[in-house]
Amino acid sequence: MNPPRFDLYGPIHKGLRHFMHDTLWRVGHLDPQDDGERDETLAQLDSLLALLHSHVQHENDHVHSAIEARQPGGSRQTAGDHVEHLESLQQLGQLAARLKRTQGTERARQAASLYRSLAQFVAENLEHMAVEESTNNALLWALYTDAELHEIHGRILASVGPEEMALVTRWMSAALNAQELAEVFGGMRASAPREAFEALLAIARASLDARRWAKLARALGLTPASASLQLA
Ligand SMILES: [Fe+2]
Repeated sequence: MNPPRFDLYGPIHKGLRHFMHDTLWRVGHLDPQDDGERDETLAQLDSLLALLHSHVQHENDHVHSAIEARQPGGSRQTAGDHVEHLESLQQLGQLAARLKRTQGTERARQAASLYRSLAQFVAENLEHMAVEESTNNALLWALYTDAELHEIHGRILASVGPEEMALVTRWMSAALNAQELAEVFGGMRASAPREAFEALLAIARASLDARRWAKLARALGLTPASASLQLA
């Protein structure tokens, strides 16, 4: 059997699914009369919407452009989805802003409306990501070698700012299995400056339970129990 091909979408999509589900759950159990809970939940939603916006941009700029360069029209379906997603993100932002401004009993209605709209958006995004991971990946694997796909991935990483990278690392670390974690952090260690790698590894450590952290630490040649992240 051939070894698996490099999957540009898999790890980031797992992180986004986890972030979307966690946020949907929080919006669902939000007590609209509790100002603190409302502000906290809407702050997480803002950060999710901003990350999803940026994710669409990265895919358009780096992945769809790569597909189009070798197969014109190849990214048509998911590029069309992206146009709709950007509209949905804007609408969700407006619903959230309205909930922030609303006072009194009207808040409950606004919160329920936001929850339903977010749930629908999550459902559409799950379908969309499944198409990217099947149809788009099949195209990318036919059109590009793994070395070329790693180069595309490197260009995406180079375009991501430190705040976004920290956010992605938090959600992705919590979402990936042990083997995927080892692969992602092994790749980071090989490509990122040591300080940046250690900062991202600390974020991962905070997101992982003891068992999963021990597996990642072992895979990276670190001592799981050590307080510091000294590299072996
Ligand atoms: Fe996408």
